[in-house]
Amino acid sequence: YDPKTPQYNTSDPTSFAYVSARERWPIILTQGIDDVHRSNYTRNDEEELKEGKAIVSDLAKLKYELQHNRELTPIDDDGEGDVAEYNKELQALGNPQWHNVPWLYSECYLYRRVSSIFKRTQHWKSYDIFARQKMSTFKSSRPAVLELASRYKSIVTDLESKHTIKGANTQEELVEAEKILFKEMCEICLWGNATDLSLLTNLTYEDIQKLQGSEARKASEKNILVNDLDKAFSVLSEAQKQGKKERRVDIVLDNAGFELFVDLILAGYLLAAGLATTIVLHPKSIPWFVSDVLPNDFGALIQALADPQSFYSALSDDEKHAGKSAVPLSTSEVEDLQFLFGHWSRFHAEGQLVLRPNTFWTAGGSFWRLPKTEPSLYEDLKESELVIFKGDLNYRKLTADAAWAPTTPFTEAIGPLGPGSGVRVLALRTCKADVVVGLPEGEDERIKATEGGGGDSGARKWAWSGKWAVVQMSDGKA
Ligand code: F6P
Ligand code: MG
Repeated sequence: YDPKTPQYNTSDPTSFAYVSARERWPIILTQGIDDVHRSNYTRNDEEELKEGKAIVSDLAKLKYELQHNRELTPIDDDGEGDVAEYNKELQALGNPQWHNVPWLYSECYLYRRVSSIFKRTQHWKSYDIFARQKMSTFKSSRPAVLELASRYKSIVTDLESKHTIKGANTQEELVEAEKILFKEMCEICLWGNATDLSLLTNLTYEDIQKLQGSEARKASEKNILVNDLDKAFSVLSEAQKQGKKERRVDIVLDNAGFELFVDLILAGYLLAAGLATTIVLHPKSIPWFVSDVLPNDFGALIQALADPQSFYSALSDDEKHAGKSAVPLSTSEVEDLQFLFGHWSRFHAEGQLVLRPNTFWTAGGSFWRLPKTEPSLYEDLKESELVIFKGDLNYRKLTADAAWAPTTPFTEAIGPLGPGSGVRVLALRTCKADVVVGLPEGEDERIKATEGGGGDSGARKWAWSGKWAVVQMSDGKA
């Protein structure tokens, strides 16, 4: 239930895996150590402090092993069932070293190992080492958040009170307008993914803000190399036309903060337009790839919107140090954000917006394994009209992070989730890793030849930075 095509490996100097293992992961661990240090200052309990110190030393040990290319060691038992799976796979891989190990497994192992350090304590069990970073980047997305909140409010208000969209006078025009908005919302969701924190080691906040505005989005349309959004819209619109009562859309979430915010914008729009009757969100169960959504991140976002003025006026220690002062929101900005809070918390309370965690999403293997290892989740996803997989890691997992020829059809590269699976898959992915499939002949070569594209170095550098994207669909039919 894994593909025969070999996977990307940290030993390959032309792969982003190589740079990741040697440069990015040590930085991520250092930031984690720093975060625990900071939290430890604010703890009064002796035991907690002591545990905090032990955590720092365990994290430092892990960083040492990584940087000195030691073997990956079995994860300590922390009472969770998935540890045995991780360790079994480690053994099957022949106890590899950090600099010569499949990229996908080793990166998942890294985050699972970190989480086991916390899970084995008394006082830090559910501590999220990345929570601080997640909330602070959400805050720094303020201009884009306000722009979207105001548009969302006017679109949704028209849909709910007048059952139309501005400018649409006939039923046909309404469907056309719904389609345009659907595509726009999906593209917002797509580019919201370009701003994940695990890449922040080389992006500044200014870069991020530039990526989030509506102008930037229009300019980026030409960077979507394959775009199946028309097909996806047809699926939802057909189901609606047929008068099907229960129509579910699933979103396999990626990052918290701004990306989760835009995912909720899409979710709310689908519900308000009647393109779906329920949205199921799939978060992670442990702190994951720095910025991924945990159930608590959903709660924190909703809380921030409930009282946006307090949220934006509270300064972090860093901001205080930098001498920054808070700029208050205007009355209409507060209203727009509270409208979102009202809308989303109502859907949540009424069961139309559901959070459904599963440890499958934080396993070490690819989604090729879903039907075998998590049959009940597989059956559940078949019930959905459309399962949207957000982001780069989900795409790597769909394609098993294997070194496919870039012209391999998407439906082939996703193996058991492809034709005949009964699952309608839509991947919204900005490219931040080597794997890419479904491209027209010659496209990879064309982009490689552009500046920074990798040229004839053998590396597909263009696919590493989040500048390019693919939106690909498989309808699951035999
Ligand atoms: O390529 C960098 C990287 O951190 C990968 O390791 C990982 O697949 C991805 O980015 C995470 O990005 P996303 O949040 O889009 O899944
Ligand atoms: Mg992520």
